[in-house]
Amino acid sequence: MCGIVGIITSEKRNLVPEIVSSLINLEYRGYDSTGIAILDKGAIKRVRRVGAPSDVFPPEEISKELDVSESGFSLAVGHNRWATHGKPSLENAHPHFDCTGEIAVVHNGTILNHETLKQELVKLGHTFTSTTDTEVIPHMIEQKMKEGLSLKDAFLDTAALLEGSFGLAVISTKEPGKLFIVKRGSPLLFGILKNTIIAASSSNAILSYTNTFIPLTDCEYAEFAIKGDEVTYRIGTTFNKNQTINKPVETITDHSLADISKGGYESFMKKEIHAQPSVFRTTILGRYDEKTGDAVLGGLIDHEDTLRNAKGILTVACGTAHNASLVGGALIESLAGIPVRSEIASEFRYKKVPLDPKDTIIFATSQSGETADTLESVKEAKRKGYKTFGVINVVGSAIAEEVDAGVYARAGVEVGVASTKAFTAQLAIFYLLAIKFARERGMTAQEGRALISELEQIPDLMMKTLADTEKRVIALTERYTAKNIRVINFLGRGINVPVATEAALKFKELTYLEAGSYPLGELKHGPIAVIDENSVSVILMPHDELFAQNKNSLEQILSKNGNVIVITDELGAQNLKEQNVDIITIPTLKHPLLYPLLEILPLQLFAYHYALALGNNVDKPRNLAKSVTVE
Ligand code: M6R
Repeated sequence: MCGIVGIITSEKRNLVPEIVSSLINLEYRGYDSTGIAILDKGAIKRVRRVGAPSDVFPPEEISKELDVSESGFSLAVGHNRWATHGKPSLENAHPHFDCTGEIAVVHNGTILNHETLKQELVKLGHTFTSTTDTEVIPHMIEQKMKEGLSLKDAFLDTAALLEGSFGLAVISTKEPGKLFIVKRGSPLLFGILKNTIIAASSSNAILSYTNTFIPLTDCEYAEFAIKGDEVTYRIGTTFNKNQTINKPVETITDHSLADISKGGYESFMKKEIHAQPSVFRTTILGRYDEKTGDAVLGGLIDHEDTLRNAKGILTVACGTAHNASLVGGALIESLAGIPVRSEIASEFRYKKVPLDPKDTIIFATSQSGETADTLESVKEAKRKGYKTFGVINVVGSAIAEEVDAGVYARAGVEVGVASTKAFTAQLAIFYLLAIKFARERGMTAQEGRALISELEQIPDLMMKTLADTEKRVIALTERYTAKNIRVINFLGRGINVPVATEAALKFKELTYLEAGSYPLGELKHGPIAVIDENSVSVILMPHDELFAQNKNSLEQILSKNGNVIVITDELGAQNLKEQNVDIITIPTLKHPLLYPLLEILPLQLFAYHYALALGNNVDKPRNLAKSVTVE
């Protein structure tokens, strides 16, 4: 959670609009409060507000409030907060100061030993003004400088004392031409121009300056200094302060500024829902061989034997990524016959799982590649001797670096907090993985080819699904938001169950209403008690081999006066046309296991339009942040 940014330039100018724009590009990381500190006229000046920068930080107003020098200034830091320690409030918003207001710090992460450090500092006479974990940092730097250390040494000694995770940026009036950053566990990188360096938690904040950057790895720090008309940088490590590390400059190729703008859509989420056909095409591109009917996954090439010999698979992930893993598990079991166990990462990391690491392999799935529970699960799995593989979207992210190998999801930057295109990209990878495992275990070349040929049709069918269903979905959401709907359940069987779970998660996140998801056959064992005229049951039931059973369950719901929406294919729609149900028709597929790829689209739209009808913020649902880097 949280996003930090720091800018240092040898060319004095008003950096406020730049910091604000970078913070807006980091809003997906957190947006409950925001703040900027600038070093101008020999003093650090700060503005903090509760809310997201796009709402509460008009650059002109903020420049006025900061009384920015006409000649400009060279140093600024900014922060978007997503509260973990201390509620969202003005006092808790970053940047945080020491007692004198001469040191300003912005921090992303969690300091686990902040209470102990605070007690020591209070005994030494420091006064705290917030309830955050972060505030110990400027006070500790101040304390160490009082004891005679330079700003840099005080900063690095403080970083060494911190337990937990951090990406930090520090400025001080004591050295007005310098900016320091350091990281452990939280992402941090910087982009370099001749007269300006910009450091941030994510490349999104840097892309308007440059698409070349240097990412820091854990325990690395960087010192930026204005020298004449240039800004220089030096990278070192916290455990060997004097050693200089030379790191190559990397170029961002997996996303661009276009990815982080709405591109004509009214929201990021809508843009991302509609991007799914092209994302799917990109994700599978070059990753299969039409002739052999096999998947070709370059990232796994050095682990062919491990994959071939695996007797079991364990998936670990959270939220939407877990739901994608559940679909993946169903695919692998059904196509390749390998048993798959799917664990929620926050459970897996603390529990005993009686599997043998010798022949069980782990797939960790994550959009951000930063999720703390998933990252810790991978570390724990490695400690236990498992081989770990990743299905990760963000290139070079912490989980991507931690796993033994993996396949990138290639969904591009996902800004909407509710995950949509990352989900279908993750599914795409699981289809390819399932084909790969299956082709090593009995699936014939013809079967592989048939599946691949249908996967190739999916982008067009996704486009058709979105175009054909959105109006109908809007009409339904208008009708149901006008009624007193008390209960909404998403139901299906087999591979459709995790899709129903994902639909319920999307619905909860966006509408703030409780939604259930069950295997349809389970309804009669309890959940049917909630069905009445104020309930909606959304049933995922393509015309597959369980259609008759599904129809039977549907009739039970109707007999209890429940409202029913059915997501089905053309044949299913035909069959149900006499029933008193609302039908959303998706294209017919040859292979029933592929339906999740189409079913999820009207369900994402359903949650989206329902939330809009309720007046909710669809890109930034309340209480949620895009990446959950804390427990
Ligand atoms: O970045 P990750 O995929 O690891 O994130 C996992 C979950 O936090 C995430 O999927 C969350 O459930 C989304 N908000 C779902 O829309």
